[in-house]
Amino acid sequence: MRESLNLKRSPAEQWDYEKQKGPDRNLCTCYDIPKIDMMRAIEKGADTIDKVSAQTYGCQGSQCCERQLQRLIDIYGQKDSSSD
Ligand code: FES
Repeated sequence: MRESLNLKRSPAEQWDYEKQKGPDRNLCTCYDIPKIDMMRAIEKGADTIDKVSAQTYGCQGSQCCERQLQRLIDIYGQKDSSSD
């Protein structure tokens, strides 16, 4: 389920902000997967939770990070589709 993004920044600015905001902290604490690893997977074309999970092994536990991960996927998707 996608939620609407309520961003104060443009998607491109938000993506850059997210990359600087705790990139080495685990986004998936169940599998110790840093946020930056998941963001890199998204940048390489993983546009679903399953695809990011396949590349990083994140979000395979109780899927408690699913919402945060989907938010990043949505930001990146809007970044690509928005023309600045
Ligand atoms: S934090 Fe990612 S599956 Fe639990």
